Amino acid sequence: MPEQPSFPLAPGSTIGIMGGGQLGRMTALAAAPLGYRCHIFTPEINSPAEMVSAAVTVADYSDIEALESFADDVDVVTFEFENVPFECVQALAERVAVRPGWDCLRISQDRLVEKDFINGLGIPTTPYRAVRNADELAIVVEEFGRPAVLKTTRLGYDGKGQVVIGTDTDLNAAWDTIASAAGGDAAILEAFVDLAMEISVVVARGDDNNWAAFPPVENRHVNHILDVTRAPARLPDKTSDAAVRAASAIADEMNLIGLLAVEMFLTVDEGTGGLGPNSDLLVNEIAPRPHNSGHWTMDACISSQFDQFVRAVAGLPLGSATPHHDAIMKNLIGDDVDKWRDVIRNPDEVLHLYGKTETRPGRKMGHVNRLFPLGQLPNK
Ligand SMILES: Nc1ncnc2c1ncn2[C@@H]1O[C@H](COP(=O)(O)OP(=O)(O)O)[C@@H](O)[C@H]1O
Ligand SMILES: [Mg+2]
Repeated sequence: MPEQPSFPLAPGSTIGIMGGGQLGRMTALAAAPLGYRCHIFTPEINSPAEMVSAAVTVADYSDIEALESFADDVDVVTFEFENVPFECVQALAERVAVRPGWDCLRISQDRLVEKDFINGLGIPTTPYRAVRNADELAIVVEEFGRPAVLKTTRLGYDGKGQVVIGTDTDLNAAWDTIASAAGGDAAILEAFVDLAMEISVVVARGDDNNWAAFPPVENRHVNHILDVTRAPARLPDKTSDAAVRAASAIADEMNLIGLLAVEMFLTVDEGTGGLGPNSDLLVNEIAPRPHNSGHWTMDACISSQFDQFVRAVAGLPLGSATPHHDAIMKNLIGDDVDKWRDVIRNPDEVLHLYGKTETRPGRKMGHVNRLFPLGQLPNK
């Protein structure tokens, strides 16, 4: 057995983070005031997280030797990226504490496993079915009706690995597109949800089994990429409570230590044509790590999602997730980053840049948090 560090980790301990993107960077920045070092494991050179961390291992996620020496240098391992292979987590877990554990990653890596798990808790999702070939696709499309959405079960993000099956979509062509992205795995067909609003809840859960959720927020996407998060979401209390209950129940059932983001859909109420008393709350997907829709917490809450994440992983008690401001978070995607000169002039806006040297269309380069006194968000 590996030598187990005693939790809570003492200042000076090292947190190992799998993945070198902006989520790892902001986690490392939150670890620093608690006196922790971070060691990043990433296949990418000059990653955003490496730039602000004490140590980096640049190696492939399947490089067992590199994983072992990384494990020997750190006191706990966590993930800013959940799509690491099982062999990688296994190699790590034999030498060091891994938080959250493999099961949390396993569930969230596969849309079918994830939706089975969530429905198993009595929390609804949109109707879905595994699809293994074009014939099965035709049968399920017949059953669900159009529109529907065909997705790869694994590795999708920012709308990648999915096609909408509209009235005129050729099913063979749709199947070929997704099958080649799925590389032999089954795909998933989901009934299309008539969306009144997309929301998410980020909940932290500690090793004392306590949890703390940030209030639900509203998310707007452009080209399938998160564009704006509005915090808090404009919801009746009962819907907001139900969303927090669903997220915390999922975290509890996964026995998660760390952070869980839960994306949810609110359906159109036929009576009102928008959000209404008959809107259903459906879970879309979960991620056992910090989430883009939680970035507003960095400037608007007593403890941010990254503070809570570090606390949970290090075995510290959770901080307060209470907001002291309302906020609008705007992602800086691609060339948007050139707006930094304007943002920096506005004292109500807080700029966060990820240090990426190359700007590419669709690439998340940074974000801006615009703060408002509580209850004073503009209603647009
Ligand atoms: N079944 C669905 N019905 C309606 N819209 C959907 C559906 N699935 C996904 N979408 C839209 O596509 C976006 C991205 O899909 P999602 O499943 O969250 O994948 P990812 O974020 O991993 O790319 C969602 O936020 C939502 O706007
Ligand atoms: Mg999503």
